[in-house]
Amino acid sequence: MRVLNKWIQKEPSKNAITILKDRYFLKDGEGNYLESTWDEVAKRIARHVAAAEVNYTNDIEEIKNAEEHFYQLIKSRIFLPNSPTIFNAGKTMDRQLFKKDIEETTLEDYKTIFDSRTKHNMLSACFVIPMDDSMSAIFDAVKNAALIMKYGGGVGYDFSVLRPKGSSIAGTGGKSSGPISFMHVFNTAASTIEQGGARRAAQMAVLRYDHPDVFDFINSKKDNKGNNVLNYFNISVNIDNPKEFKKMLEEDGDLTLEHPASSIRKTIKANDLMNKMVENAWKTGDPGMLFLGRHNQYYAMSEHTPVTATNPCGEEPLPPFGSCNLGSIDVAKLVEDMDLGNPNSPDISEFQEIVYWAVRFLDDVIESNIYPLKEIEEISKKQRFIGLGMMGLADALYKKELPYNSEQARKFMAKLTAELAYFSHVASTELAKERGNFPDFQRSKYPNGFIPFPMLDDEIDEDIKVWNEKIRQHFQGEATKYKRNVQTNTIAPTGSISNLADTSSGIEPNFLLSYVRYMTNKEGDRVPLSYINPILMEKIGTNMTEELKAEIIEKGSIQNIDSIPNEIKKIFVTSMDIPPKDHLLAQHVIQSYLDASCSKTINMPKSSTIEDVKAIYLQALELNLKGLTIYRDGSLETQVLTSSSQE
Ligand code: CDP
Repeated sequence: MRVLNKWIQKEPSKNAITILKDRYFLKDGEGNYLESTWDEVAKRIARHVAAAEVNYTNDIEEIKNAEEHFYQLIKSRIFLPNSPTIFNAGKTMDRQLFKKDIEETTLEDYKTIFDSRTKHNMLSACFVIPMDDSMSAIFDAVKNAALIMKYGGGVGYDFSVLRPKGSSIAGTGGKSSGPISFMHVFNTAASTIEQGGARRAAQMAVLRYDHPDVFDFINSKKDNKGNNVLNYFNISVNIDNPKEFKKMLEEDGDLTLEHPASSIRKTIKANDLMNKMVENAWKTGDPGMLFLGRHNQYYAMSEHTPVTATNPCGEEPLPPFGSCNLGSIDVAKLVEDMDLGNPNSPDISEFQEIVYWAVRFLDDVIESNIYPLKEIEEISKKQRFIGLGMMGLADALYKKELPYNSEQARKFMAKLTAELAYFSHVASTELAKERGNFPDFQRSKYPNGFIPFPMLDDEIDEDIKVWNEKIRQHFQGEATKYKRNVQTNTIAPTGSISNLADTSSGIEPNFLLSYVRYMTNKEGDRVPLSYINPILMEKIGTNMTEELKAEIIEKGSIQNIDSIPNEIKKIFVTSMDIPPKDHLLAQHVIQSYLDASCSKTINMPKSSTIEDVKAIYLQALELNLKGLTIYRDGSLETQVLTSSSQE
């Protein structure tokens, strides 16, 4: 593929290599490096995952063809799988099998790779673990979660099933200590685990808005300074029906807090709940809101296995014991040569091919994965969740000279996501024809012509109308018979992999145009990684004097630099330059074409008031969103990135 060939030649930056060395290169038992180049990593992942194809064919050429496509996607960094796949593919296996040239690799070699997989080869990033309202079930969940986190997965839980604090416990005559006390147990367990030996663990706690302990939950991270209280948790309040809740707020209605396993009942004002959520979110960013009712509306198996929580960063709703492996296409690299989002583009088949191979890769990961629990393996293989998303959106917009906070950019985002969703679903249908439907297909909503996302109105744009029509035809036609994966699209934060790809993360605007990022290496030393956005460097060209560079590094944004022309300022916006409502609208248009969800933070300026935060929360209840996370600048003391002036 033409565009892959161009990027295969480009080596990762110095920053990317530093991260690879610290976290991703395989090591032996004594800590000696077994790898030293990106090429070796790409080959290892491609071969490990392609080995899953032995389940479908004995034709060695077909397997090699898959490996070659996977290798090109990864080596070019046009597509990267989630971190656990990069850490764990090929781990603890015979190195010689991965050193052989592809020409010399035999069917036996692929079979050996497939058969020698062990618990170390856990490849997924996202899990949801259920718990029952009993002591032994809670501690089983702690153990299950610890195993998942140890190998690099993030875990979400619905704590709503636990009875509220102070409820009676039959048998002991005692009183329950409530969900929040148990969250601390999970937090402590997580604090002892270094995921995949390389990074800190991450968890999501969900609680229903009408659980009697909801205020304790909302307050549970109130005193968070970033490193003390429940610091291995993100917390989200589940409001099943956001429009009904909004009506309750407008009518200043009462809300009854109750739980089926408890006699505790409290009546509160819905507005008091909303105000508390908003106040705390203003202070620390937590809690977020989650709309699981909307998730289930667009989930093809909700009638049998409704989703109950999301993974830690909120982009992947899952049923109990669900798992999902993610992968992201770097659209910033592709926009240089492709007219993405345009349904009449002459090179559209090339994009379709990239998406096909990315979907096939993720589908193969389901087979080549080793699951931490048999319950997880069972549902993951019955429904076959995969999450293909994108990274590099902000850099793509810089290259296309579209300000992130403009109507034009939003149309591009919508068309691009529609195109990604359409081709991903077409690929999943093609794979189903060759490999069979996901086993639960007949019980799912797909045979009835179900479309797993809301879509935007036809009227807003001619191209959107074309994508909508293609999507409708697909889901009313072939998709009623063939679907390999229950869900296909998720947009991850890509916090680490976007650095490996030297691109902007996920669908977020760039947080800063330049920064010094401190990474703590395994020895515990803080290593500075400095960065200035290369697209901006190129745009300013020979006018980029050393003095100007220093000023950009100092400020992180260019909005207050007089010597930079206004046209450039308009395009090169950062998270904090973008009004919160434009963050929200970006999330809205993108979410309109996602069957799973996306990771997105609504950044707000430090000066925002509690009322400003409330306005965003209220707007989120109205739009077709599946959740909301806000962050007010400076509200939490440990920001990951800082411009140099703040260091
Ligand atoms: O870039 P990378 O693949 O490392 O991860 P990401 O896109 O930032 O995060 C994707 C998902 O990985 C998160 O939603 C979590 O489920 C999981 N994750 C985790 O478990 N622990 C972390 N420290 C970071 C991410």
